[in-house]
Amino acid sequence: MADKLNLRGRTLLASGFHAPERGSIDALHDALIAIGEDGIIEAVTRPGEEDYERALSEAREAGTFLTLPAGVLLMPGFVDLHVHAPQYPQLGRALDVPLEVWLQKYTFPLEARYADAAFARRVSRLLVGDLLASGTTTALYFATVHAEASRILADICIEKGQRALVGKVAMDNADSCPDYYRDASPAAAIAGTREVIDHIRAHPDNREGRVMPVVTPRFIPACTDAALEELGALARECGCHVQTHCSESDWEHGYVLSRHGMTDAASLDRFGLLAQGSVLAHSNFLTRDDMDLLAARQAAVAHCPVSNAYFAGAVFPLRSALEKGVRVGLGTDISGGPISSIFDAVRATVMVSRMLASGVDPALPARERSALSDAAIDFREAFYLATAGGGEALGLPVGRFAPGFHFDAIAIDPSAEKGTIRLWDHDADDDNLLQTILYTASKPNIAGVWVGGMQV
Ligand code: GUN
Ligand code: FE
Repeated sequence: MADKLNLRGRTLLASGFHAPERGSIDALHDALIAIGEDGIIEAVTRPGEEDYERALSEAREAGTFLTLPAGVLLMPGFVDLHVHAPQYPQLGRALDVPLEVWLQKYTFPLEARYADAAFARRVSRLLVGDLLASGTTTALYFATVHAEASRILADICIEKGQRALVGKVAMDNADSCPDYYRDASPAAAIAGTREVIDHIRAHPDNREGRVMPVVTPRFIPACTDAALEELGALARECGCHVQTHCSESDWEHGYVLSRHGMTDAASLDRFGLLAQGSVLAHSNFLTRDDMDLLAARQAAVAHCPVSNAYFAGAVFPLRSALEKGVRVGLGTDISGGPISSIFDAVRATVMVSRMLASGVDPALPARERSALSDAAIDFREAFYLATAGGGEALGLPVGRFAPGFHFDAIAIDPSAEKGTIRLWDHDADDDNLLQTILYTASKPNIAGVWVGGMQV
């Protein structure tokens, strides 16, 4: 697949997998996926269905028929619900200290460098290209406090064709943000946010709205109440998504309890920051009431299992949140988590859930080791969270092969020589084949990536 394949207006014959419902896998075998001129799936037809032969011959006659190479498997593109674009140069380092030290010692100094537009452009180009090549077709990005660097990130997503939500970070609290890296006032935070929203919405190459703005208070400790209030009003006025960090660590959760006398979730709600399209990163210390509140508001959690291992001091009770009806997708949290691939987030989701279910202290008898013995998440559920779950969290029609959904997809070549998947005869079983792909695939196994039907 050396040439870029535009699938708009085409019918693709493909095999592969998606997880339209949490907990089960739908395997496609020689399915016909008809893609409209707008990149949206019009129909998915399977052998044996009434229309199949007619759809096949019509596509052949019209010259719009294409087939994936034998053995190549189609999956929905991944949704990464939590990426700090400016932290890409810090990926895989600086993880030796707790969150509150990490921010001041490493992260704010790095992010401050994005006052330099050339640096912002260089990093953003590299990151967006790398994430697309890793199969991330939708990304929810924190940029920096700078409106210009935020605009540059959005421009590059538009140029490279990634579906993305980009937010200028709002952080105006002089008590917790350094002089060299913060919004000068609540008004400055709002003005910069508004500037980036307007830029993205008016961009001449963004007519399909593939890149969207997002109101982005960094987290409660970094913002004044005045800024939080106005950001909530702005999100309502503009109908924007919202993203922030929520109850991430003991320190952060405790800070909000002592400043506001309530949890992060309750406080965000009173500022009007919890609604459908709000994505709260981490949320490890949510109470049962917080979970009910998120479910009622249709707000979502970006579960960042790798980052949580470094900063949270706890494992997110994912099963409990799902059972409460909270929407959840996965995030890498570049660079709080030293991973950039959602494959790694899927693997870590399964792994940390198993540790939460078993408990981790071998000095305790097995039956006393964990209070959450039903916490385990399997690869099917993790795959759902990485695709359809992320789409639902954002309220976007992505992550499923179904009519009305964007054709955002990746093609996996399990036999790529430089890849890391090795298949054996018994992998003819769909479940085992998908499990092997999710656990062992790497970048060389990704043979193609499409966003809205366009290969990127
Ligand atoms: N809380 C506030 N800012 C950040 C950040 O950049 N990363 C993480 N993981 N948590 C945060
Ligand atoms: Fe983060």
